[in-house]
Amino acid sequence: MFSIIPLKQEHVDKLIELENECFSIPWTIRMFEDELESPIATYYVAMLEDELVGYVGMWQILDEGHVTNIAVKKKYRRKGVASLLLDKIIEVADGYPLTMLTLEVRRSNEPAKSLYAKYGFVEEGLRIGYYADNNEDAIIMTRREQIHESSDI
Ligand code: COA
Repeated sequence: MFSIIPLKQEHVDKLIELENECFSIPWTIRMFEDELESPIATYYVAMLEDELVGYVGMWQILDEGHVTNIAVKKKYRRKGVASLLLDKIIEVADGYPLTMLTLEVRRSNEPAKSLYAKYGFVEEGLRIGYYADNNEDAIIMTRREQIHESSDI
């Protein structure tokens, strides 16, 4: 039903609509265009036929994956779209392989915290007053399940 495909330039206008629907500090066209050109960035979108319904992004920094964002249109929430997007990012992270995935989430964002917990992310730290719009704290959540141990240790 939903397909997960790499983000392309042609998706950016729809992505901006999604950003404005989902976030109080939405990313801009310029920010997504920079992401498209960045060698460390990986972005996927979720499509329902021609409709863009969600996206996820990750930066690869050395052996760590930083999930930059994930969002799903309100109309399509609780249908497993974010799960499909996270499955894809985890598949990519395992492929590199990366030793951990980490992200920041608003302290009050229970749906997102619950999603990440379901995927094995655990709360590991706090960035006080991280979000500029309301000074809300960010919880740092990290998933270390994809640690690939060297066979000669
Ligand atoms: N309340 C509690 N848990 C929720 C939830 C909610 N409203 N929505 C999702 N979850 C959790 C549940 O654990 C759920 O598993 P379950 O259905 O077995 O209970 C799990 O997430 C997977 O749900 P899924 O349907 O794949 O998520 P989604 O497609 O609805 O997307 C968000 C989840 C968080 C991406 C979506 O609510 C969203 O876009 N929110 C606004 C943007 C945002 O806050 N992004 C995160 C930035 S850090």
